[in-house]
Parts: sequence; structure tokens; C-alpha cells
Amino acid sequence: MKALEGVRILDFTHVQSGPTCTQLLAWFGADVIKVERPGVGDATRKQLIDVPGADSLYFTMLNHNKRSIELNSKNETGKEVLTRLIKECDVLVENFAPGALDRMGFGWERIQEINPRMIMASVKGFGPGKYEDCKVYENVAQCAGGSASTTGDLDGVPMVTGAQIGDSGTGLHLALGIVTALFQREKTGRGQKVLAAMQDGVLNLCRVKLRDQQRLDAGPLKEYSQFGQGIPFGEATPRAGNDSGGGQPGRILKCKGWETDPNAYTYFITQAAVWEKICDVIGEPDWKTKEGYVTPPDRLDKLNEIFDRIEQWTMTKTKFEVMDICNPLDIPVGPILSMKEIAEDEGLRKTGTVVEVDHPERGPYLTVGCPVKMSDSPVEVERSPLLGEHTIEILTQVLGYDGEELDKVVNSGAVGEAKPIAAE
Ligand code: COA
Repeated sequence: MKALEGVRILDFTHVQSGPTCTQLLAWFGADVIKVERPGVGDATRKQLIDVPGADSLYFTMLNHNKRSIELNSKNETGKEVLTRLIKECDVLVENFAPGALDRMGFGWERIQEINPRMIMASVKGFGPGKYEDCKVYENVAQCAGGSASTTGDLDGVPMVTGAQIGDSGTGLHLALGIVTALFQREKTGRGQKVLAAMQDGVLNLCRVKLRDQQRLDAGPLKEYSQFGQGIPFGEATPRAGNDSGGGQPGRILKCKGWETDPNAYTYFITQAAVWEKICDVIGEPDWKTKEGYVTPPDRLDKLNEIFDRIEQWTMTKTKFEVMDICNPLDIPVGPILSMKEIAEDEGLRKTGTVVEVDHPERGPYLTVGCPVKMSDSPVEVERSPLLGEHTIEILTQVLGYDGEELDKVVNSGAVGEAKPIAAE
């Protein structure tokens, strides 16, 4: 038994944000039916191709444990099928450009008419307001949500981050909204509209930077490196390089081999509670009692000197040796792991966070498994569906089409080149 067993999701999502959400719901046990345009499918199937003729990793890594139906939702028969699917499903998830569902004839009013218990969940770039009609991709959201202006070096341009906080981040927010709406429906019997705007999702993940924006009114941000460097603050939260975002100062420091290995670095946090142990480890025991070094506020204007000294020590060790020495002392450090190291990490494979999946077109590939582990709802990662792989199965098993009715749908062109059931 899986946590969301019995919940049926009509998955109208594409690219990354929506598929992240529905993949999670599938891993939690929901039956996710991905509706794709006949002959075309999710655009990512054919983007960033590495194996000619096979679905891309972009697609396969975001669409595990789903079923795929090819369905033209603009064709009359296709609309009839869609209407029946809406009756049979609990949640419709979509991340089309604003207005696309209305243009198809399936706006919120219509969906409620068809199925008042339906939860309609959407990712959009922006919430209601002057930008609500805009199409949005990941980096636009990172910029509009405050992330880019606060990421990067103080003297450099705004930076986007590798973590897909706009797409995958918003997909996560939406998934939480959906299960919460399902929970509420248990009591009210009614569905509802759930909206996660990418700008809002990014800002939610950047809330510490809005915190700092307001702290600026009270004076310079003393834990930022620029304070120790004597660089005045401007009007807005600045870019802070690799400074820690919290009250415990931290930096990325070179480790042994940094001259040739771009990832021979560690993140080192000078947590106040372990300051004395840090002093001993780096060979500066005098700093434990030296005036101006004893308390965290004393040290704020000396962070550059302190981290330079710690780096002299980390440069004599590999990033893993730093970890081995500091961990038993409770000094928080983290190696900068490359994607190659992560792909080869035995521990991550054991926990199912990195999983090898087989695929009929492309053979085995690595993916990221479910990042949330539930003791009573285990996850088996299953390969993504081929385009329209489950068209007939869904028409017959979920919607009960049979004989003539099925032939009519198949011959209408609404479901692409789906083979009649006898040929399956
Ligand atoms: N049958 C028939 N038509 C279908 C269909 C189906 N099964 N599935 C999609 N379509 C149609 C849509 O109805 C739409 O038609 P319309 O414009 O005539 O109304 C069309 O395909 C394209 O949809 P759209 O969402 O505009 O795709 P796009 O490739 O132009 O834009 C995005 C992509 C991501 C920019 C856009 O969808 C968007 O802004 N989404 C919201 C924000 C978001 O999620 N962004 C992050 C993506 S990772």
C-alpha cells in the first residue's frame, strides 16, 4: 500500500516544473496519467538528445512511474475523452502558458461542472497581476523571485543557480498544495484551485534575503564578508559570494589538489559552539582566549583573516580528510561534490536517492530517486512511459471504452496512432 493509492492524477504537465510535481505524487502512490499531444508529446522528449531515437534524459528523469495517453484535447472526440477523464480523476495538474486550458474549453468553471471534487492545480510564472500572462522558464523565475540579485560575487553580475528552484522548486510547492487540498476535500467533499507561481516559489526559497533587506535598515550586515572588507552597503541585499546565509559564518575553502581539481574545496562553518575545537584543529589555540576573537560578534570584522588561516589548514588536506577530521569534533563542513562523485556514491545508491533504471530505447541510465523517504510508503522507481504507451489501457481500463466506442475514438485521430485493443 502506498500513501496516495487510489488517487488518480490527470497530468497535463510538460517540461520541468509540473512533471516534477506529478512524478513525486506518482512516487507516493498516485496513478498519474500523462496526457500528451499525439505524435509530439512533452517537448522535452526530444530536447537535449544524447541517444538518437530515444527519449531524452530530460524527459525520462522527470516522468517516472507515470502512464502516457496520446490525446488531442482540441479535437471533438478528444474533448469527450478528456471530459470522461476529468470525471474519473481526483486532480488535474497543468503548467501550460496562461489561458491555454481556457482556450481548450476546460477552464476552472467547466472543470467544476464536470467534477466538483476535482482539484485543479497549476504552475504559472507569476501570480495575478501585471505579469500574469507571461510565459516563464526557470531562469526568468530565478531573476524575478529575487534569487539572481542575491547570488554571485559582490563585484560580479547577478547569477542564476544550478539548483532548479524555479521549476523543480515550484513543482514541490505545488505537490504540497495538492496533498493539502486532498486532505481538505476529505472534510468538505469539494475540490479547489491550487496555484503555485514560480516567482512566489523562488521568493519563498529566498526569504532569508528579504530578511536581510529589512535588517539593512538597522545598519550593515556584519556577517557578510564585505563588512570585514570595509565595503559600504547599498540599498538592497547584496550578492554575498559563498558567505553563509545564516548567523554562523561559513565559506568555501580550497583543499589539497585545488590547483588541478575544480571541485577540491570544502564548505567550512565556524559555528560558535565549536570555535575552540576549530582553533585547536587549525593550530591557533591562542585564539580561544585572545581579545577580539572570543565571542562571535568580536570575530565579525576578522572573518577574512580567520578564514584565510583555516584555508591554510584545509589546503593541507583533501576535502574528505577535512570531513573525517572535523565530523567527530562536530565542526560542520561539507565537501564540494561533483556530479561524477555523486553518480558514483555508493551511499546514495543504497538509500535509493541515486537509482539506475532500464529503458527499452536507451538502456540503463541514472536518475535521482524520491528524495522523501516514508517508512510505510516505499518507492520503486519505474521507467518513464513511451509516448502513448498506455493509450489503449487507459481508454479501456480507466474509461471503460469497448468495441465500437473504442474504434470510434481510435479512428477519430484523437489519440494518434494508438493500435486497436486486439493488436495490443
Ligand atoms: N492536445 C492539443 N493541444 C495541446 C495539448 C494536447 N494534448 N497539449 C498542449 N496543447 C497545446 C496548448 O493548448 C497550447 O495551445 P494554444 O497556445 O493554442 O492554446 C499549446 O499546446 C502550447 O502550450 P504552451 O504552454 O503555450 O507551450 P509553450 O511551449 O509555448 O510554452 C512554457 C512553454 C513553459 C513557457 C509555458 O507553458 C509556460 O509559461 N508555462 C507556465 C510556467 C511554467 O511552468 N514554466 C516552466 C516550465 S518548466
